[in-house]
Amino acid sequence: MRFRSVVSSPAQPLRVVVAGAGNMGRAWLAAVTAAPGVELTGVADLDLTAAKAAVAAVGRPGLAIGSDAVELAGQTDAQALINVTVPEAHHSVTTAALFAGLPVLGEKPVAESVSRALSLVAATEVTGELFMVSQSRRWNPQLSRLRAMTRQLGPIGTVTTDFFRAPHFGGFREQMAQPLLVDMAIHAFDSVRFLLDCEPVSAYCQSYNPQWSWYAGHASATAVFEMESGTRYVYNGSWCSPGAETSWNGSWRISGQNGTALWNGDDDPILHMEAAPTIADTSPYSGIEGALQMFVQALRTGQRPSGEVHENVMSLAMVEAAVQSARTGRPARLDDVLTRAYVQAIRTEDRPDVCRVLQNWPSVRAALATSSRHVKIR
Ligand SMILES: NC(=O)c1ccc[n+]([C@@H]2O[C@H](COP(=O)([O-])OP(=O)(O)OC[C@H]3O[C@@H](n4cnc5c(N)ncnc54)[C@H](O)[C@@H]3O)[C@@H](O)[C@H]2O)c1
Repeated sequence: MRFRSVVSSPAQPLRVVVAGAGNMGRAWLAAVTAAPGVELTGVADLDLTAAKAAVAAVGRPGLAIGSDAVELAGQTDAQALINVTVPEAHHSVTTAALFAGLPVLGEKPVAESVSRALSLVAATEVTGELFMVSQSRRWNPQLSRLRAMTRQLGPIGTVTTDFFRAPHFGGFREQMAQPLLVDMAIHAFDSVRFLLDCEPVSAYCQSYNPQWSWYAGHASATAVFEMESGTRYVYNGSWCSPGAETSWNGSWRISGQNGTALWNGDDDPILHMEAAPTIADTSPYSGIEGALQMFVQALRTGQRPSGEVHENVMSLAMVEAAVQSARTGRPARLDDVLTRAYVQAIRTEDRPDVCRVLQNWPSVRAALATSSRHVKIR
């Protein structure tokens, strides 16, 4: 899919509004105010006190604030919107922005469900605006090196991620039914798709809550995914595992025909194979700063960025498949998850134009795959 480009330059920066002034919103505000070629025009939050405190925290106390992000974008002549609201608000805020002619850079997850995510995919096809989802790990240079190493290993048998930490967040995460799978594991699931350049076929997952857990829902999970290539991806994690904690990125092993690549999540990955080649640096960017630079660049060039919404949806589908399998005790096929979400998306769509686009898709996989492979990272 082609999207509308927006010309900007260091002399004529891209004017953006940030929606959501919570914890992550503040991180984005710091990134936006430090970024070359980007100008912050306003901050929106339903909680105006939070918006006011956030603009003060980045040293811009006089900056425009408001409770409706798209309205604020109109008032401040913004050209794009960064959506850092809670997941339940991603669909409404992003849809409103796209139809107001604003390209969107949004925090993960793309939406609160795959069905709402499909509605957003179709909304970009109606409007021709770019919607890029920021999965911040994709912009980790170490993960990019691990990806380059993975390409040296020949056919890949197994990929594993161990994730063991013991954070006390308080708040909504400690009340969610599946805090680890829904709020955290999506980063690893998105990363494995990026590493292998390959999509998932099925998921089998058990989730559980250790008896000492301070979470109401399941803080631990083990999931096995079969990928299209036949590779098995094993995610083994817990959010109530004190002692010897892994990196927030998890600890990774890629096992292939020619050798193994290891990444502890914090340091450079290591390639274990005979006559290991030198791996060149692969990504010039990192974290949300990287996502922001890629968004600006994509709008300038019209080149599809990594994380463009069509390409991102399967990461959320992996979460839904794992949750479904954990609930039923049976493997979940990704095609079934997508089909159910598609039917739901058509049934619940409010906009006739978006509904028509959804109905005209030959299949969900085909719609999502539209040139989704081999998206350029730089
Ligand atoms: N990439 C990462 O590592 C990472 C880390 C943390 C959070 N996140 C993501 O960032 C997003 C925000 O998380 P957070 O921790 O900042 O949450 P938060 O609850 O601290 O802040 C969210 C803010 O959004 C506001 N909001 C809700 N609906 C809104 C609407 N319609 N319009 C404007 N504002 C609205 C809320 O009032 C709140 O201030 C989530 O999608 C979360 O998953 C990503």
